[in-house]
Amino acid sequence: MLKNNACVIGYPIHHSLSPRIHSFWLNAYNIEGNYSREEVRPDDLTMFLNTMVEKGFKGCNVTIPHKEKVKDFLEEHHWIDSAARKIGAVNTIKVVGEQLQGFNTDFYGFMASLKAGLAEGLEGEKKCDDLYGKKVMVIGAGGAARGIIYGLFNDLVDKVILTNRTQEKADKLAADFGQKIEVVPWEKKTDYLSDVDVLVNTTSLGMIGQPPLEMDLDGLLETAVVTDIIFNPLHTELLMDARKNGHKIIDGLGMLLHQAAPAFKHFYDPENEAFHGLPEVTDALRNYVLEGLR
Ligand code: ATR
Repeated sequence: MLKNNACVIGYPIHHSLSPRIHSFWLNAYNIEGNYSREEVRPDDLTMFLNTMVEKGFKGCNVTIPHKEKVKDFLEEHHWIDSAARKIGAVNTIKVVGEQLQGFNTDFYGFMASLKAGLAEGLEGEKKCDDLYGKKVMVIGAGGAARGIIYGLFNDLVDKVILTNRTQEKADKLAADFGQKIEVVPWEKKTDYLSDVDVLVNTTSLGMIGQPPLEMDLDGLLETAVVTDIIFNPLHTELLMDARKNGHKIIDGLGMLLHQAAPAFKHFYDPENEAFHGLPEVTDALRNYVLEGLR
């Protein structure tokens, strides 16, 4: 049995970039370990979870379509942290003895990427990555939006303006969070742009093979930042339009890289004295992962 064995589970799974990220860090920190892709069909999910310990896994990442089911299973039979409970999804499992502990690192990944992007290119006193008091427009109300909204309020944003094609889903999400979320109609979203500091697309619009998110950005404040959680393509039409209009843009690859950092710590830190803290998201890692997209 391999010493430090972790993996990513999903269905389908062959496109996952997680093995590239984790193997880069295993090499960089000289840690003996392995990170594999495991195709787990929905019908086989419970069996996989029930045999993780005996197979010797230290942990795993969880991707589409299993995040919500894993949260339910671990909540009932094992343990999940408060963020995973509130978001309603688990993307990281850590094996502790016989127990499977569930976490959600996606919200951390989004916030870390956003903050790194906000601070980039600024020096001294201007180097501000603070979200405190900011107003953020979130486009989309699916699973990804839930994690992002959790992260935004965790970092004390003032207000979220939420819009979704299916408005009932946005209303439900707003009611679940019970915080300062204003739901605005999908057709009228551009009317609210003058009030936002950050605009984020969490829908699948703009992803390779999908239509773009068509949105006139003329109403945005000059200082507003535009970000997309899509990383394939790296620069969606939304981001290209925003850049043309002079806005700072933050692509979706940063979220993918940063969400992996706490997961890596969960999997490999307890066994390895050489490694402490979170592994670094560097340009070298980014370039290595980008090669996997080509
Ligand atoms: P994820 O976990 O990635 O968030 P999801 O929960 O399936 O995936 O959510 C997908 C999001 O993309 C939803 O906000 C969805 O809008 P609906 O709730 O109206 O379905 C949005 N989305 C997907 N295709 C879309 C389209 N063609 N136009 C507008 N929104 C779309």
